[in-house]
Amino acid sequence: MSTRICIIGTGYVGLVTGACFAEVGHQVVCVDNDLPKVALLRSGGIPIYEPSLEEMVQRNTAAGRLRFSGDIAEGVRASEVIFIAVPTPPRADGSVDMSYVERVAREIAGAITEHKIVVDKSTVPVKTGERVAGTIRRYNKGKIEVDVVSNPEFLREGCAVQDLMHPDRIVVGVASERPVATMKAIYEPFKAPIIVTDINSAEMIKHACNSFLALKISYANALAAICEASGANVEDVVHGMGLDKRIGRAFLNAGLGYGGSCFPKDISAFIQIAHELGCEFDLLKEVQRINASQIERFLKKIHDTVWIVKDKTIAVLGLAFKPNTDDMRSAPSLDIIRALQKEGARIRAYDPKSMEKAKEHLTGVEYCADPYAAAKDADALVLCTEWDEFRQLDLAKLRSIMAQPIILDGRNLFDPAKMKQLGFTYKSVGR
Ligand code: UDX
Repeated sequence: MSTRICIIGTGYVGLVTGACFAEVGHQVVCVDNDLPKVALLRSGGIPIYEPSLEEMVQRNTAAGRLRFSGDIAEGVRASEVIFIAVPTPPRADGSVDMSYVERVAREIAGAITEHKIVVDKSTVPVKTGERVAGTIRRYNKGKIEVDVVSNPEFLREGCAVQDLMHPDRIVVGVASERPVATMKAIYEPFKAPIIVTDINSAEMIKHACNSFLALKISYANALAAICEASGANVEDVVHGMGLDKRIGRAFLNAGLGYGGSCFPKDISAFIQIAHELGCEFDLLKEVQRINASQIERFLKKIHDTVWIVKDKTIAVLGLAFKPNTDDMRSAPSLDIIRALQKEGARIRAYDPKSMEKAKEHLTGVEYCADPYAAAKDADALVLCTEWDEFRQLDLAKLRSIMAQPIILDGRNLFDPAKMKQLGFTYKSVGR
């Protein structure tokens, strides 16, 4: 069954959700108030790098199932179900700026002339559904009924299309039975378990998941420090842990800590939300502290190895916060490069996809055409993102062109024994 769907906001979540809904046969209009972005999307371009998204957008646009509009009222009126997927950026105190969601709720209220289902897909503080429903009621002069639904998104950047097409589960938070059948029909083609709960619980599931995943990462990073001090190998330790079905191996990779547009923001927000509800989530504060200390510990490792970085040439491989994306938001590479530059190091960098976006965040970096150009005559090489491309590097060649064969690997990409054999001074995390 095809449903007429409007997606408001064409960021990561909105654009990928819209494309995937169209892919399974729904009629989708994606709305954004950024008109140059709408024009780009209409011409077949996409504003982000995300594997297989561009083809999917073009295919569904050509098939007439997906279109883009700058007119929110038109998109809302044309659709039965409206998904809100606008940004919820952090404010300075760690709380969430909800003004975009609130504005969209008012705009929906102003546009509707008949019953609609309004679905919140943005990552929002618990109790937002109640506020959205209240806002639409207040600003809708005709007193048209709407059903507000919470339907959090769990996609990861870099594999967003894959995550959306093959979800582990779909969470649907409702205030009544009325929107349930339509929500189930929208998601039926995705063949995933659908959990129907109340709106507050659905919103809480999203907080709980992201925080728990961040906790797993910080746990692995705290273990890494103890492994280094004791001579144990964190890779073997998490392998041994991960085979226990109660624990699982995912999200136990030690490294430079979590970055990106979600975890840093969402963990701060959950701490703040809990605080406002009278509950101190100290466990999550520790997760944050461990995450921040990963960068400090890595910088110390660079100093212990290189000693004085002033006037040294440091090659940085990988800038994006994780592989398969060009996203630079809260990328660990930014803190590392800035700290090294502050001490007078020259930075030569290479990333397969994010160098254009990196230019918006960094100054004084020499961007290189490939990893070897970055490494040539470098006094040390720092690896910040585990792109597959770097696994295929000709390490003997790399060693021959560097001024000093020093590699500091923030993502445990290489085998320490092999690196030693090749003549590198090689430091990684927790091994
Ligand atoms: C995350 C959630 O996974 C997703 O469900 C949610 O919808 C949005 O936030 P994303 O930020 O795109 O997705 O990437 P993810 O793959 O989860 O990685 C987040 C960060 O954790 C990255 O910086 C990554 O490098 C880091 N990470 C991940 C680790 O350091 N170790 C790990 O074992 C896993």
